[in-house]
Amino acid sequence: MNNSLLQTSKKLYIKTYGCQMNVYDSDRMNDLMGAVGYENTDDYIDADMVIINTCHIREKAAEKLYSDLGRIKKQKDKMAEQGRKMIVAVAGCVGQAEGEEIFRRAPVTDIIVGPESYQSLPDLVGKVIRDSSKEIDLDFKPDNKFDVLREVREKSEIGVSSFLSVQEGCDKFCTFCVVPYTRGAEFSRSVDKIYEEAQSLVKKGAQEIYFLGQNVNAYHGADANGEVYNLAKLIRKVAEIDGIKRIRYTTSHPRDMDDELIAAHAEIPQLMPFLHLPIQSGSNNILKAMNRKHARQDYFKIIEKIRKAVPDIGLSSDFIVGFPGETEQDFNDTLDLIEKIGFTQCYSFKYSPRPGTPAAEAKNQIAEEVKEERLSRLQALLTKQQTEFNKKFEGQIMPVLFDRIATKGKSDSKVGQIIGKSPWLQSVVIENKGDLLGKMVNVKILKARPSSLVGEVV
Ligand code: 5AD
Ligand code: SF4
Repeated sequence: MNNSLLQTSKKLYIKTYGCQMNVYDSDRMNDLMGAVGYENTDDYIDADMVIINTCHIREKAAEKLYSDLGRIKKQKDKMAEQGRKMIVAVAGCVGQAEGEEIFRRAPVTDIIVGPESYQSLPDLVGKVIRDSSKEIDLDFKPDNKFDVLREVREKSEIGVSSFLSVQEGCDKFCTFCVVPYTRGAEFSRSVDKIYEEAQSLVKKGAQEIYFLGQNVNAYHGADANGEVYNLAKLIRKVAEIDGIKRIRYTTSHPRDMDDELIAAHAEIPQLMPFLHLPIQSGSNNILKAMNRKHARQDYFKIIEKIRKAVPDIGLSSDFIVGFPGETEQDFNDTLDLIEKIGFTQCYSFKYSPRPGTPAAEAKNQIAEEVKEERLSRLQALLTKQQTEFNKKFEGQIMPVLFDRIATKGKSDSKVGQIIGKSPWLQSVVIENKGDLLGKMVNVKILKARPSSLVGEVV
């Protein structure tokens, strides 16, 4: 780490696009730069450093980046007139995919790092300050990354609900997806490193540990004796930590949803009754074209087993509509699957051709209007299911872990309100009477809204 940066107190602005992995990475970049004297700010005006943490998974990622960089350039120029330097870094999957091209198209950029190499940021910033150079690091070195990150995380503040990355990358190569290219091959951290980090997070006040991985249930890390753990066994071990109240994990793949993990849901009280298990499509033709390597029947079987183990489990999935070749019948198969399963909250997207992926080359692309229309039908059904699920909780009492202050101006919230999570991952809003932020309390649900619950402390 570059200690020459330590004397200064500077402002760091981070803009984050994309998934929870990116939120996690942004938090870690914040830790890294915090350790060398950069304080987080929520406005890029006047920031000494700006990081754009990009996502490449769907459309217009690069366009969004270049338009952000255009805006930032104006500010950087203004600061330069006052004799101040703003350092601009592009991180994340667009950085990984576009590489040097970003320096060419947006010379305002000083640093480019990828999702597996951002631990070098403090060193690269040191070089830019010293030499006014351009720096790029796109190496895949996840093991080194986690060691460096753990060290700085030890010194940073942590939340009551803390992400803990256990697995990264993907070897599955779904034909629509860039992740195997941008985040690299599947990698599992060692059991001992995860356990120690979980212990340290709990000691510092985390009550909920949220395991993260692109294919988290493909986890297969080893302990010090070389014994390989699957995700179920890892969860069992971490659940033994004194003081740990909740455990969650995301994102899972149906092919890795083994019986042990299902049993863990029934047996480990801290493992929350919620499963995000993306199927993407309900049509066997489309699942095959997506290279998912499982059929809709397999999905029904898993759901049957998990419901047997945990009858009240909340289920969630990702869906893609308008994948190349998707017929009206294929799409109806997806609606039919949704009707039959009953989901509590889902993410749904129009298929977006990603350069370099097989599906982007397919000749039978679906027209934009068709994708739009299918997406709105699909979302109407998902919203209906989510609303019905939430309604069932009116009048019920549930434990809620409060981890956020509601921000003024958000439709459902006002000053003095805080937001927490139910066991089923619903957002629950209450008046913060007493100091309840950071606490787990029993809440009576007064009103269900489509995407949140409103309650009062009992
Ligand atoms: N187009 C649309 N959605 C996509 N996803 C991944 N790649 C694409 C794409 N090319 C969605 C999938 C995945 C989620 C993280 O993003 O549903 O599960
Ligand atoms: Fe992408 Fe498929 Fe891997 Fe998920 S399993 S990250 S959708 S390639």
